[in-house]
Amino acid sequence: MPETALRPRVRQPLKIAVIGGCGHVGLPFGLLLSDVGHEVTLIDVNARSVEGVRAGRMPFFEEGADELLPQCLASGRLLLSTETSSLREQDVVIVTIGTPVDEYLDPDIRTFDRVIDATLADMGDGQLLMIRSTVFPGVTERLGRRVHERNPSIQVCYCPERIAQGYALRELTQLPQIVSGCTPEAEARAADMFRDLGAKVLPVAPVEAELGKLFANSYRYINFAISNQFYMLAERHGADFHRVYDAVTADYPRMKGFARSGFAGGPCLLKDTMQLASFNHNLLTLGQNAMMINEGLPRFIVDQLKAKGPLVNATAGILGMAFKGDCDDPRSSLSYKLRKVLTLECREVLCTDPQIADPSFVSLEECLDRADFLILGACHSEYKSLVTTKPVVDVFGFLRRPTTT
Ligand SMILES: NC(=O)c1ccc[n+]([C@@H]2O[C@H](COP(=O)([O-])OP(=O)(O)OC[C@H]3O[C@@H](n4cnc5c(N)ncnc54)[C@H](O)[C@@H]3O)[C@@H](O)[C@H]2O)c1
Repeated sequence: MPETALRPRVRQPLKIAVIGGCGHVGLPFGLLLSDVGHEVTLIDVNARSVEGVRAGRMPFFEEGADELLPQCLASGRLLLSTETSSLREQDVVIVTIGTPVDEYLDPDIRTFDRVIDATLADMGDGQLLMIRSTVFPGVTERLGRRVHERNPSIQVCYCPERIAQGYALRELTQLPQIVSGCTPEAEARAADMFRDLGAKVLPVAPVEAELGKLFANSYRYINFAISNQFYMLAERHGADFHRVYDAVTADYPRMKGFARSGFAGGPCLLKDTMQLASFNHNLLTLGQNAMMINEGLPRFIVDQLKAKGPLVNATAGILGMAFKGDCDDPRSSLSYKLRKVLTLECREVLCTDPQIADPSFVSLEECLDRADFLILGACHSEYKSLVTTKPVVDVFGFLRRPTTT
């Protein structure tokens, strides 16, 4: 739990607007900035989220936020809006909207440009425009040039977000912050904001910050693919990947970075790897191979099951539909791909998830009762104490690992 009461107050409170302020990046960042003394306006086009957050309800799981949100609202330093009309009154405007790739796996720059154009139309002299969304390399400098033509007094910086989703309030002050600006003034103002949060600041050039963010996510994605390929290799040869894993990592520091196998889904890792590939004219062989491996894992699991016997009359159960454990976010979760593959092969597929409200899902009890076999899709803590006599496919090796605190 973040120690919110112990957080220092900023020396110079700013007026800050966060565009995309009810999203997974914008909301915790906005809460933290409000908590340290800034006046923060969360701006979001999702009226339902705005209404919920204004009423003190978090739209998703974020450690410590259920307690912090009401405190920020009560302080009067957290405002909400669906409109950008207040932008001119701000000192800083932070952009945290989604930056997806399109159907060709290229970055969807048009949506981002549209939002930036609308934002700039409402901004005034001397403001700092901070990009916090993950952007394609070159976007910040290009934006800096466009802004300079319109109003040279507006400063542009790019400070990539690097939190683990769900743990931002803790990580935002603990992790070093990569900071870049199109001008020395932009960089200095951004650096001051993060230093005020108690974070260590790492200044780099804008394209280095953009590449750094994409390198980090692509590195993780490729790293997961290595383990997933080894998992599939071990399975094909009748070996137990997790026993091998435990043996080669035990007291052996050179294998510290070896990841566990498992679903590498979610809204960032694949799309950021594809952004990097697109930036390099579709030449990122490791990243593209990682995609084939990671995205192929659900099909591999089903093929392994099929090799043991026909599935046509079987009922499959998927435990966990979120893209990772102890998380309520279904975005780009490979459990949904698994469901699709199983639907083509089985008589029925049952899905359950304690964190996601979906009327098509069944309870854990029903899933355990009716399914002929189970596949772990997300490592939710609730499943640690799972008791069943049914066969369970656990690619993550999660159920057999001792609980860590
Ligand atoms: N989720 C993460 O853990 C994480 C971590 C690091 C970086 N990022 C990056 O941060 C960015 C945001 O990701 P996210 O997961 O927070 O996405 P999200 O979908 O959770 O949040 C985006 C928010 O922006 C809002 N929005 C969209 N268009 C808008 C507009 N025109 N005006 C105002 N609000 C608008 C949406 O309604 C949504 O609430 C992406 O570039 C992502 O790659 C995400």
